[in-house]
Amino acid sequence: MAEKIILDVDTGHDDMVAIVMASGLEEIELMGLVAVVGNQILEKTLANTLKVCELIGQQAPVYAGMDRPLVRPKVIGGDIHGESGLDGPVFPTLVKKPQALHGVHFIIETVLANPHEITLVPTGPLTDIAMAIRLEPRLPSLVKRIVLMGGSMGRGNRTAHAEFNIFADPEAAAIVFGSGAPIVMMGLDVTLQVVLDENRSATYGKLTTRTAAMFNASMAHYIQACRRHGSEFPAMHDPCCIAYIADPSIFTTEFHDIEIELHDREKYGKTYAGTTNGSGTVQVGIGADADRFWKLLDRAFTRLP
Ligand code: RIB
Ligand code: CA
Repeated sequence: MAEKIILDVDTGHDDMVAIVMASGLEEIELMGLVAVVGNQILEKTLANTLKVCELIGQQAPVYAGMDRPLVRPKVIGGDIHGESGLDGPVFPTLVKKPQALHGVHFIIETVLANPHEITLVPTGPLTDIAMAIRLEPRLPSLVKRIVLMGGSMGRGNRTAHAEFNIFADPEAAAIVFGSGAPIVMMGLDVTLQVVLDENRSATYGKLTTRTAAMFNASMAHYIQACRRHGSEFPAMHDPCCIAYIADPSIFTTEFHDIEIELHDREKYGKTYAGTTNGSGTVQVGIGADADRFWKLLDRAFTRLP
């Protein structure tokens, strides 16, 4: 039985890889995608999500989510992802349209209609998920789980203390982590273990499908942008969520209690992992078998045009 998921994305380069992986693996049933502000403004993350889905033949409906954080002033993902939010590939003229329903309502309606079956997969700021929880208080007890990319038990990547997805809406993160929903946190501790190196890039460069061409053009930009920011290779942050859902044994996790810094100006958006004797409520990724991650993406490519 395939895992029913909703992807909540701020498409960006690694969000695109998550969409490709989710679309190419039989283990996943993608019920819909919601675009949120994050790497870029909502207009651009929505357009990028539509373009990627159209190019790879993903028929799932796409919805617009929130266009600003709950409380803090909006921040976007800087120049990592470029002016469009997905610089690199050139897409054909976009035909696919977003649904009229707001993405937060789509999340609520889908979870209520499929109690205990839906995995929410936010790979951007948690604004949409927090709004869904506030609008429908039953959601944390009816969702199967939330597998999110965000946070870090160590250093941040947007500030020294905060990872971008959390930093972009810390109040939303506090609502989500405090909701009681079952959470798997794929933070920087584990996602930085899965990087696209030259050999891997060269291998994908030999693929001739249009999905691979889009991936390669995207990664060419992402590699240069990450290098400008001091990272030798780009990390596959967001698709770690999809890989975990498809095959949890690729990752090792620990249980921690996670709290969000909302008051200290310097540490705003930091995720604190409370010391635990294993009694924590959040499953936090700490290790990854990168080779098995890449084998999943290899398989996904074989099933996409
Ligand atoms: O910190 C990494 C996260 O920030 C990823 O989701 C990336 O897409 C950006 O949104
Ligand atoms: Ca993202």
